Amino acid sequence: MTDRTDRTGATKATGRIDTVRLGQDGPEIGVQGFGAMGISEFYGATDEAAARDTLDAALEAGVTLIDTADIYGNGANEEFLAPFVAARRDEITLATKFAIERRPDEPSYRGINNDPAYIRKAAEASLRRLGVETIDLYYMHRRDPSVPFEESVGAMAELVKEGKVRYLGLSEVTGPELREAHAVHPIAALQSEWSLFSRDVERSAVAAAAELGVTFVPYSPLGRGFLTGAFADASRDLADGDFRVHQPRFTGENARRNAALLEPVRAIAAAHGATPAQIALAWVQQRSAVHGLTVVPIPGTRKRARLEENAAATRITLTDAELAALEPIAAQVAGDRYPDMRFTSLAREV
Ligand SMILES: NC(=O)c1ccc[n+]([C@@H]2O[C@H](COP(=O)([O-])OP(=O)(O)OC[C@H]3O[C@@H](n4cnc5c(N)ncnc54)[C@H](OP(=O)(O)O)[C@@H]3O)[C@@H](O)[C@H]2O)c1
Repeated sequence: MTDRTDRTGATKATGRIDTVRLGQDGPEIGVQGFGAMGISEFYGATDEAAARDTLDAALEAGVTLIDTADIYGNGANEEFLAPFVAARRDEITLATKFAIERRPDEPSYRGINNDPAYIRKAAEASLRRLGVETIDLYYMHRRDPSVPFEESVGAMAELVKEGKVRYLGLSEVTGPELREAHAVHPIAALQSEWSLFSRDVERSAVAAAAELGVTFVPYSPLGRGFLTGAFADASRDLADGDFRVHQPRFTGENARRNAALLEPVRAIAAAHGATPAQIALAWVQQRSAVHGLTVVPIPGTRKRARLEENAAATRITLTDAELAALEPIAAQVAGDRYPDMRFTSLAREV
């Protein structure tokens, strides 16, 4: 998709999106990727046929980086992807993650495990569930600061040597941590939350990624759907089991204040003949030019029409005046991005 149509037709996808290189020497991937998490957990019930059709739509649009993790649906998300991956292996850059442990008897329990023996076991289990011989991009989902990177990234590097993994990634690490890990083994991608509502990665991680040639993969670039206007208050608009009901910024007075922050997003969308979702994605995509690094956001959806809409956002360029109008939003957001912020990089920013 090389024509950068600016003001019209932004909601229609035409052809394939542009490509960029993953890390310094990785494969060419679509400049927007696909987050598969919501297919199996967190955001309510899924129509399986529609989700499979959405995966096909991703490849049709040139969205080739497919993102999952062992924790999504407790392995179910990787298993769901397996037939798709088997049918289209050569077209996909497949990313998965390890490090977050659950307990069958305690559904809300989350533990972080960076132990080398655990990493090997987790990788082998992911390979089995995905039905592949190699994971293209293997992420440490969360860092346990008590395990040195020499041990954890060292164990990941062993998997590269053995051909089980091609490239390494980290999620929710600070800039200094990224530099430290990169010195153990080159890191191709950093995946952390980055959106109009969540900009704490700009404290140190973004500059480190730019300096090291690490691709930045913004997760939840649509603010888990909130930035699209699809819901305004999670406790009122979403089902009880939905993860977003527990996120401080999406309920009650915080949600009411945060919904009001979307006014400039809506106005800019109207000017482009686009949707608020597309403006949110265009903003995060344009961080690439602002900060001088490769940016590949991974919006998640279970609907073909939304996939096409999201991919078409790669053609929108926001003006300096529009970027300036969006600039103050993040600082005004009420409420944290997680109920428990201990496991985020922000908790370790000094
Ligand atoms: N590394 C980490 O710790 C971490 C954490 C969270 C997520 N992730 C990854 O990042 C991916 C994306 O993040 P996310 O799924 O949390 O959030 P997101 O992409 O910001 O938003 C997804 C939500 O927005 C809705 N949506 C998508 N496109 C839309 C559109 N055009 N209009 C209206 N609504 C739209 C989706 O609903 P429908 O599905 O119904 O369309 C879904 O509820 C995940 O799938 C996962 O792979 C990683």
